Amino acid sequence: MSAVTLRPGRDADAGGYIALIAACWAEYPGCVLDVEGEAPELRALATYFAQAGGALWTAEREGAVVGMVATRPLREDAAFEICRMYVAASERGTGLAQRLLATAEDHARGQGAQRLVLWTDTRFERSHRFYERRGYVRQGAIRILDDLSKSLEFRYAKPARGLVVEALDAAAAASAERRLAEILAAAVQEGDGLPFLPPLPAEAARGVWRRVSADVAAGTRLLLVAWLDGVMAGTVQVDLGTPPNQPHRAEIATLVVDPALRRRGIGRALMRRAEQAAGRAGRRLLTLEMPAGGIAEALCRDLGWQEAGRIPGHSLDARGTPRDALLFWRRTG
Ligand SMILES: CC(C)(COP(=O)(O)OP(=O)(O)OC[C@H]1O[C@@H](n2cnc3c(N)ncnc32)[C@H](O)[C@@H]1OP(=O)(O)O)[C@@H](O)C(=O)NCCC(=O)NCCS
Repeated sequence: MSAVTLRPGRDADAGGYIALIAACWAEYPGCVLDVEGEAPELRALATYFAQAGGALWTAEREGAVVGMVATRPLREDAAFEICRMYVAASERGTGLAQRLLATAEDHARGQGAQRLVLWTDTRFERSHRFYERRGYVRQGAIRILDDLSKSLEFRYAKPARGLVVEALDAAAAASAERRLAEILAAAVQEGDGLPFLPPLPAEAARGVWRRVSADVAAGTRLLLVAWLDGVMAGTVQVDLGTPPNQPHRAEIATLVVDPALRRRGIGRALMRRAEQAAGRAGRRLLTLEMPAGGIAEALCRDLGWQEAGRIPGHSLDARGTPRDALLFWRRTG
């Protein structure tokens, strides 16, 4: 069988696009494609995206359309929308979807996109998993399309470029669980600094972030996430759930950066933003506990945190050897 080729989309691909989209929608009960009534642009899609200042790609195998993706600029905040992303069932799990998405994202970045945005039907759970793994998080309210399929759509978004740290709300936090679980499991495997022992099974890692999203929803925790050039790369939390007599204190917890993306200033940026976020939440005193002798210790000292003391044999490292813990504190501005 010949390889899949990616090329610019053409108006003449209309038949292939319509068949592909109809087949993808038919996988979900109640989803129907009404081209004449609801998507007449599919008849000349390359022209449609060219007029919108965007671009369209076709994935082709032996002359048949097996995938597609498009992007176009939005009016808001230098954002580009990723749209019309479909892959034939026979091509799933081959990396084609990733290739298509990367093509559209790279094009948008090349056009100056600062933010990438997309809408996906609330029923398309497989695509939610795909986008969440690639660093997109839920943003804003559900969109109601008054269409034949009775579509409700989630909006997903992520920063397109540079090092960006954002605080997530409850919906965004829940949608970040999968990618954060990957980062946590990889960091625990490296065997440093975190209160878990390797290997951390995927479901246990996911459970950690489920509890965090529940706390975010309850307002007892802030969750900050860092992206580097569109890749979700690290995270830190501000635990606001202090006892009633400590309304002015918060604890910084679970600072972790993807082991593949360390030493690029992500940990430092996360700590700075966590300190600012805690200050804005009215917390004037911050505390932090960590294993002695780790990288985080050097980072905290460098950021001006004060050591309060050392607890001998506080926790075990990956080899089962007891390690001391250090307590640090600082005031927010
Ligand atoms: C600690 C951690 C978050 C740092 O993330 P990072 O993105 O690599 O950190 P940065 O690139 O911002 O580095 C910040 C500073 O930390 C120190 N640092 C980072 N990596 C270091 C290393 N390998 N050796 C020595 N110092 C190091 C340096 O002071 C560095 O500043 P510099 O690059 O200007 O010299 C990351 O190593 C991690 O996830 N570790 C595992 C989890 C953990 O220990 N968390 C802390 C629990 S409280």
